Order: sequence, then C-alpha cells, then structure tokens
Amino acid sequence: MVTSIRNGMPMLDTDGKPVHAHGAGFLEDNGYYYMFGEVREGDKRVACYRSKDLMNWEFRNVVLRITSEKKPHYMRTDLELTYQGKGVNIERPKVLYCEKTKQYVMWMHYENGVDYNAARCAIATCDTVDGDYVYRGSFNPVGNDARDCTLYKDEDGTAYFFASGRDNADMMVYRLSDDYMSVDEQVKALWPGQYREAPAVFKKNGKYYMLSSMCTGWNPNQGGSASAFEIEGRWSSISDFGDAVTFNSQPTYVLPFGEHFIYIADRWDPVDYDNSGYIFLPVTIEDGVCHIEWADEIAFDVKTKTYSVFSIESEDYRIMANGFTGYLASDGFDVFARPLSYKNENLIWNFWKKNGGYNIVHRATGKALSSDGTMREISDKPSMLWRFEKVEDRVRIINVESGKVFGVHGRRVVLGNQDDKFGYVRIVKKY
Ligand code: DGJ
Repeated sequence: MVTSIRNGMPMLDTDGKPVHAHGAGFLEDNGYYYMFGEVREGDKRVACYRSKDLMNWEFRNVVLRITSEKKPHYMRTDLELTYQGKGVNIERPKVLYCEKTKQYVMWMHYENGVDYNAARCAIATCDTVDGDYVYRGSFNPVGNDARDCTLYKDEDGTAYFFASGRDNADMMVYRLSDDYMSVDEQVKALWPGQYREAPAVFKKNGKYYMLSSMCTGWNPNQGGSASAFEIEGRWSSISDFGDAVTFNSQPTYVLPFGEHFIYIADRWDPVDYDNSGYIFLPVTIEDGVCHIEWADEIAFDVKTKTYSVFSIESEDYRIMANGFTGYLASDGFDVFARPLSYKNENLIWNFWKKNGGYNIVHRATGKALSSDGTMREISDKPSMLWRFEKVEDRVRIINVESGKVFGVHGRRVVLGNQDDKFGYVRIVKKY
C-alpha cells in the first residue's frame, strides 16, 4: 500500500509491476476509479487499472490488443491494427459509458506505428468496463486528420470528441451521435493556427475548461487554459497554465474530485517512453483561468474528497533552449546541448550567488561555466560570474567580464554577442 503519489515518477501497480497507462483517461464505475492508458509491450495497446483511493492501482486487463476481436459498425472504418507486419500505435485512449446502448465506448488516436501521417481516431466497445474491448476501426472524422484527443460527456449525456486537426493547427470539437459511435457534427475549430494538443476538458459551476499544451513532440512546453460557457459557443483565448514546461508535464485528463479537480498528466521521457512518469496536481481556478502549483507528493482522502500536498525544496534547474528541444549539459569539461532525459544528471545546474554575479555550477561535477564556454573550478573571478537578464518569459545569460551571451539554440550551445538572437534560454526548476 502506498499513501501518496510521488509526482513525476513512474508508478508501480499493486503487484509491484510498472504501471503502463500513459496518455490516460479515467472513468468512475462500480465504486472504483478506472484508469485506461497506453501500453506498448508486444501486442498490448491499452491497459486498464482500477483504484479506490487514486494512489494504489490494481491491474485489471489489457483491454485492447493488436489481436483483439474486430467488428465493423455502420460507419466505414479501417479495422487493421497492424501495418507492414507490425502493431500500430494507439495513443490517449478515453472511455465513456453510453446509457442508451449500455456499452463502454473507447475513443483513441490511431497511427500506423511508422509515422504520424494516418492521423485518425479509432473506436472500441465493451459490455463491461474492464473486459476485452472489440475494435471497431479507425477513421478520419468528417474527413479531418485527428491526433491528440479527449472525450467529454456533459451532464445531459451529450458527448464530445476533441482532437487536434489540420495538421495540429486547430483544436477540432465534434459532437458525437447518441450511441457515441460516430460523429454527429463538427461544432468548432478552436484557436486556428495555434497548434494545441493534449486536450483535457472539465466543467465547474456550469463553465467548461480546457487544458492543453503546445506541440513539441515528447518535450514538455508551456501549458494553456481556456474556458467557455457552452462547448459549442465561444471559447476564451488561451492563458498560461503552469510554468514554461508545465512542471515537465503534458495534460491527459482532469478528474472531478468532490469540490476539487485533479490535473492528471504525463511526464513523457523523450528518450525512454516506458520510463514516463505520472503527475496528479490540484487545479485551482481564478477569474476563469486554471492554475497548478508544483507538489512533489500528493495524498488523497477519498472519503472526505480532500488531498494533502508535500514538497521538498530543490535548488536544481535545467537550462532549456528557447525552442524546448535542447538542454544544456556538461561532462565537467565542455558544455553541449542534449535532448531532455529525466535520468540524465548531467542536465542539472545550480546557481551560486557571489559578489557581482552568479557561478553557474554543474551539479554532477561541481565545475562552473567560464566566459569561454568551458567548465572550470568555481571562483569569484569575473570570467566565472554571470548575470541573468529577463526578457519576457525568457532569460539571457551574460558574462560579467566579457559581456558575451551564453545560450542553447536547438541542439547547439552558442556564445554570442549582446544582439545575438540565439542567446535566449528558459531556466526551469528540476521538479
Ligand atoms: C505529443 C503528444 O501529446 C503525445 O500523445 C504523442 O503524440 C507525442 N506528441 C508524439 O510525439
């Protein structure tokens, strides 16, 4: 039994095995919280776990496999779950219960496993919540491409499917038919050209909220929050949600919890998908905008529908390229840009305040950044001191002696002049 969730870490199920339920969706049923999510081992594609307390998750079933039973329905769909002899990719599965048909209906994102060009949604159904789902095929909703997605069921039973479309540029909203098995109508194309993905929708006091992210592959980016009085009506513009990397997470679901709402997210590991972690944080709303604060641990009390959060103070940071892709790394001698990896300690930096500036200290080796871009012993020499200049949400790191600007641009480290357009980074707490 665990008594809390360590945010950002992979989770173990009640048998001590890693939980693979990435891009998860949740459903309350039979007095349990059910969690459905991605698993990519062998022919497994969607796994289901259940919990009474949101912290201890019991594995129930691989509810969708490449080999699952396939059955067409009234719409023309593609029933293949293999491509070029290999299993396809299934992402972000979400399940709703349809009162009308007494069926559990799963919607998900389908790709052929080789590239991201199919951009289809797919459906599966089952008579029981955690039984073997029957695959009902993939398709392009009203001919659109569809990638990151979610489902939302309103109080009157009307269900909506949200999916990034037009090559991720617009967030499409589809009202579903009353059996949840097809699209009734496309009702919105939200925030055209703003490239939002990872939608998660919930309703509080009659108002709808959508959390989403920017599009940067597996790298975390600035989350966003928007709201509307009607799903099919006018949505607000997007406000920042969380820090520049949403505390190293990407939304997957918002779970109502008594009077509270829990933000549930993936911490995708860009170099080790199976090591991806989970994040559960309370959402607060102020003037129509959702917020989260980081907490290292969270514990739930399901009886009283309350939670407690705990945090450890950390002075560890990562220095990220403006484009979210590269991170400053060092081996103690040189500096270079590396892809994000949560296991890579060489990406962690501390800032030591000195008279006249800061040492930029590489935590793993204890060496500090010097004005020529190499690593040296920590000292008060002006060539070892840096100042930080904030430019909106980004930072320029400027050497006190030479005035050179140090930065990470994509996968490159740059040491330039004050007017160099590449010298912008974001400094993000380790979390
Ligand atoms: C980010 C998405 O949110 C994930 O579901 C996945 O599709 C990755 N992109 C793939 O790069």
